[in-house]
Amino acid sequence: MVEKLVILKNITKTYKTGKIAYQVLKGINLEVEEKEFLAIMGASGSGKTTLLNIIGLLDKPDSGIYIFDGQEVSKLNKNDLAYIRNRKIGFVFQAFHLVPWATALENVLMPLLYRGVFKKEDEERALQLLTRLGLEKRMNAKPSELSGGEQQRVAIARALITHPKLLLADEPTGNLDSKSSQEVMKIFKELNEEGLTIIMVTHDPEIAKFAQRIKIIKDGVFVEK
Ligand SMILES: Nc1ncnc2c1ncn2[C@@H]1O[C@H](COP(=O)(O)OP(=O)(O)O)[C@@H](O)[C@H]1O
Ligand SMILES: [Mg+2]
Repeated sequence: MVEKLVILKNITKTYKTGKIAYQVLKGINLEVEEKEFLAIMGASGSGKTTLLNIIGLLDKPDSGIYIFDGQEVSKLNKNDLAYIRNRKIGFVFQAFHLVPWATALENVLMPLLYRGVFKKEDEERALQLLTRLGLEKRMNAKPSELSGGEQQRVAIARALITHPKLLLADEPTGNLDSKSSQEVMKIFKELNEEGLTIIMVTHDPEIAKFAQRIKIIKDGVFVEK
């Protein structure tokens, strides 16, 4: 049987600024199987980041059902969501979000430091990940000493240090030149071929091509192509 890692049923989300309410997500339905590589596309402001944050348990929907890895998570509290998130989900963002005073190696280890567990093997795994991503000579460099592509590769290693079941990427190539973008997508493709489930948001069709499946969000719902 194929396992569904993500099941969203009729998810809605409304933002309120002052008296004005704006419904960004109007009933999102989505199923993502384990080992899938899905790209979510849509215009700027269409709700891609909002949706990814809900999938990543960083934000909660107003209504609807979310089943992540076989568990109904829609009604869990913040602590429970953080617990699952820290163990099962890795994030890669457009702006890298590395800690500026920490080295590449320390940045990769950061999720484990936050969790309060840190073993010798972890440092070895961090080094392996950096080596795999071609950064073995840069492990002691600070983010400001790294190119955009290198910083994003550090961010990918950081996302992988906890052995997540799901990798979420929000415009991962949005700040990169085309060569670095291709490199990052090649890494995603390899990771996916090794069994990692990936959900990536992008507005770039050339980047979305790397995924197995593309969904387009418009006016708060998914549209058929
Ligand atoms: N925290 C927030 N408060 C109010 N409005 C928001 C907030 N986050 C996003 N929005 C609005 O919701 C819409 C969708 O935003 P977002 O999910 O970031 O879209 P995308 O990632 O597709 O560009 C935009 O109109 C944005 O201005
Ligand atoms: Mg966005």
